[in-house]
Amino acid sequence: MNESPSPTAPRRSSGAPTLTVVVPCYNEQPNVAPMIAKLDSALGGIDWEVIYVDDDSPDGTADEVRRVARHDPRVRCLRRVGRRGLASAVIEGALASSAEYVAVIDGDLQHDETRLPTMLAALRSGQYDLAIGSRHVEGGDAGGLANRWRHLISNGGIRLAQYFLPVKLTDPMSGYFMLRRPLFEQLAHSLTGQGFKILLDLVLSASAPLRVVEIPVQFRERLAGESKLDALVMAQFGGLLLDKVFGGLLPLRFISFAIVGCLGVLVHLAVLATLRESTAMTFEVEQAIATVVAMAFNFELNNAITYRDQRLRGPRLWRGLLLFMVVCGVGAIANIGIAQALYEQHAAWTVAGAIGAVIGVVWNYAVSATLVWRAR
Ligand code: GDD
Ligand code: MN
Repeated sequence: MNESPSPTAPRRSSGAPTLTVVVPCYNEQPNVAPMIAKLDSALGGIDWEVIYVDDDSPDGTADEVRRVARHDPRVRCLRRVGRRGLASAVIEGALASSAEYVAVIDGDLQHDETRLPTMLAALRSGQYDLAIGSRHVEGGDAGGLANRWRHLISNGGIRLAQYFLPVKLTDPMSGYFMLRRPLFEQLAHSLTGQGFKILLDLVLSASAPLRVVEIPVQFRERLAGESKLDALVMAQFGGLLLDKVFGGLLPLRFISFAIVGCLGVLVHLAVLATLRESTAMTFEVEQAIATVVAMAFNFELNNAITYRDQRLRGPRLWRGLLLFMVVCGVGAIANIGIAQALYEQHAAWTVAGAIGAVIGVVWNYAVSATLVWRAR
C-alpha cells in the first residue's frame, strides 16, 4: 500500500480540530467506511475528526477503522479490551478529544449525520449548552425502530426518564447529541457510566439545568449488523435511575447485587417448595439443593447484569461460579454466626436476623467484587 498520502487524500490542519465525532461501536465493521464517507460529505467546511471507540469487536471493526485511518488522518481508533458498554465507550472517546466540541453518534448509520452542522451552529450561537438529535420533535421520526416492542420500550423509558429530569426533553433516550468539550470534562466526574443512556447520565449529572436545544432527526433503519439493545440493557437503565435517585450514596453495583440477592431468595423458596411437594428427601438435603440452585442463579444474573461489563465466559465462568459459591458459603456462615451471637445477647430475633443478613450481603458483595469479578 502507498504510505505517502496522495494529493487528494483528506488532511487535517495542525492543532486540535473544532469537532470530535465520537462513535461507540460494537460489531459495526460493514458500516465503518460508509459512515466516514457520510461524515466527510456532511461536515464540509468544518475541521473535524472521528474517534471510533470499539470494544474489541470480534467482527474486526477496529481493523476496518485503522484501514481507513491509514489514508485519512481525521480517523482515530480507541480499542478497549475486556470491556463492554456504550456509555463508558462514549465517555472515554470524548475524554480522548482535544476539540472544542464533541458529538456522539451511533456507528450503524441510523442517525442522520447531516444534522451535525445544525447542532454545531446552535452551540456556537452561545445560546445552548447541549444540542440533542430528537425523534420526537416536529420533523423528527422514529420510523427506524425495529418493531412495536422497541417502540413500547422506548416510550416507556421516555416516560420514566422524564419523571426524573430537571429539563424537558422529548427524546431523553437519544444517543445523538453534541456539547462543548469543557462541559463534558466538567460533568465527567459525576457520570455513572453504566449501560446505554449516556445522554440522561449527562443531563442528570449537571448541577444547574443545561440549556438544551432539540434538533429534529429522522431515525433510519439499520441496514447492516444488529442492535445491541436488549432486556439486560433495560435493566441497567433502571439501575442508572436508581443510582441518580440515591444520589450515588450506594454504588450501583451494590444495588444491583442486592436486588439479585432478593430474587435469589425467591428462587430458593420456589425450589424448596417444589422439592417438598414432589420428593421424600430430608429437609436438610432439600435445603442444600435449594441453596446451590439459588447461588448458581445469583451468579449467572450477577454475571449478566451486575458485572456485565466484565462478564466471565468459558473456563473463567466455571472458575467464577465455584469461587462465588465458596464466597457466599462463607458469607452464610458469617450471617448465621453473627445473628446467633446477637440473639444470645438478647437482641430481638428480627434485629439479629436483619443484621446477620445485611452483613452477609455486604461480605458477599465486597469479596466477590475482588475475587470473582476482579477487573482484569
Ligand atoms: N463500544 C461499544 N460498546 N459500542 C456499543 C456497545 C458496547 O458495548 N453497545 C452498542 N454499541 C454501539 C453500537 O455499535 C452502535 O454504534 C451504537 O452503540 C448504538 O447501538 P445499537 O445497538 O445500534 O442501538 P439501537 O439502535 O438499538 O438504539 C438506538 O436507539 C436508542 C433509543 O431507542 C441508539 O441510538 C441508542 O443510543 C438510543 O438510546
Ligand atoms: Mn442502532
